[in-house]
Amino acid sequence: MKNVSFYLLADAHYVSKKNWTEGKPFTFRERSDQIALKATPEILDTFIEKIIADEETDTVIFAGDNVNNGDMNSHYEFRQRLEKLTDAGKKVYVIYATHDYCGCGEDKNWFTSCIYTETGTEPTEPMKKSGLYDFYYEYGPKQALSVERESGSFTVKLGGGVRLIAVMDNGNGCGYCGLFEDGVKWLEGQFKEANECGDYVILVIHHPVIPPWDVFSHVADDEMYGGYRELSSLMCRENVRVVFTGHTHVQNIRKYTDPEGRWFLDISTVALANAAGKMRKVTVDAESGICDVKSIGIEKLSGIDTGGKSAFDYLYGLNFPGIWEKLIPLCTKDYNAFLELAEGYLPVDKLKKYKKLIQLAGRKVQKITLSSVAKFGRTKKNLTREQKEEAKSKTLVQTAYIILRHIYSGNAPFTPDTIEYKVLDSAVGRIDKFVDLFRIKAVKKIIPEGSSLRIIAQDFLYNCRTGNDDEISFSLK
Ligand SMILES: [Fe+2]
Ligand SMILES: [Fe+2]
Repeated sequence: MKNVSFYLLADAHYVSKKNWTEGKPFTFRERSDQIALKATPEILDTFIEKIIADEETDTVIFAGDNVNNGDMNSHYEFRQRLEKLTDAGKKVYVIYATHDYCGCGEDKNWFTSCIYTETGTEPTEPMKKSGLYDFYYEYGPKQALSVERESGSFTVKLGGGVRLIAVMDNGNGCGYCGLFEDGVKWLEGQFKEANECGDYVILVIHHPVIPPWDVFSHVADDEMYGGYRELSSLMCRENVRVVFTGHTHVQNIRKYTDPEGRWFLDISTVALANAAGKMRKVTVDAESGICDVKSIGIEKLSGIDTGGKSAFDYLYGLNFPGIWEKLIPLCTKDYNAFLELAEGYLPVDKLKKYKKLIQLAGRKVQKITLSSVAKFGRTKKNLTREQKEEAKSKTLVQTAYIILRHIYSGNAPFTPDTIEYKVLDSAVGRIDKFVDLFRIKAVKKIIPEGSSLRIIAQDFLYNCRTGNDDEISFSLK
């Protein structure tokens, strides 16, 4: 039997160039997001060039939120990209999610398609939920072994012995993103049928089945796949080893193990439109069932003059995590430039009014070293002389920037042997004590049962999950 190899791309959030003109409304919209909306066509095209150049891999799967605002301009252009892939001999399968349509009274989805002008927004033709199935019929349902018509979910053969079950989990469009009763039955039937045929299952769903961090499902349960607990049990019972997801925009691989030791992985892929955007390249060895997952990003963006910058360096500064890296130093160095960059993102009138206070706070914050944090966390005495020197040379703000850079790209960098980990871990531990002592309800609310801020922080300091968010090899058997 032939091996199966496919690319999986999530959250392209494509925005047609017809949908915006340069001006404050769209620039501000982009600043407040963590995806580079203006460059989404170029980002997608650069990935597509890479896929076409790879003759080994003949299948491409899009995991939803393919366009940003459910408008037809973007859908037509996105579909042209799919045609480019099929013209190059690739098989293409498409999942669509809540960003891909506008509710228009059909369900609770609140997205409205619009064009950003120089001064505001204007409406443009929306994609309706009921229009998605026909629009993307060629990219799944047409080749399907089975279709669940209500949701648009489908099953196709990817190759000998491997089938893709693609679940459209739009649910009611907002608040419940999962399958309804008939869809759940259909999915159970698909798992059973795959097992009877001895086929391996590659399940793809837009919303997460395992949260990227435990705090995510605790504070945003309705951002999870609707019925994720039941699906987790079902996957374990039916021996379904993997689900590929998107939606969180986070590069993440986590394992769920049930009380009987049965397990599966949720492989969540960072948004393509994120500065650190990557796609997964997956190969299944048809004989052994070994599934090998790698991640591929882009170095240079095609079609944009980045002034010699890498794709990441060019894109990172456009959205809020990267903007913070610029804002904090600007507030002390060049207040007018600070105000200009903060516009549409922070309340500029208040920033003007409290200039002196903000500059003072900015200066103080930038001076906090890890040494001061170690003192706060009462860990300084446990550090070696070299570690104390290292702590003096590193600032809290720089450390925070590095942590922020890894939130979406995965593989947080500060393992327990680093000075950053030692210092921050004990400082957060001390904050836990204050929260308990003063019964700070607003903080307690975000902490899952049996957890603590210290445990939550671990996820953002280093990869305490499967060890590598970019790669994994496991058996589908
Ligand atoms: Fe998304
Ligand atoms: Fe989403």
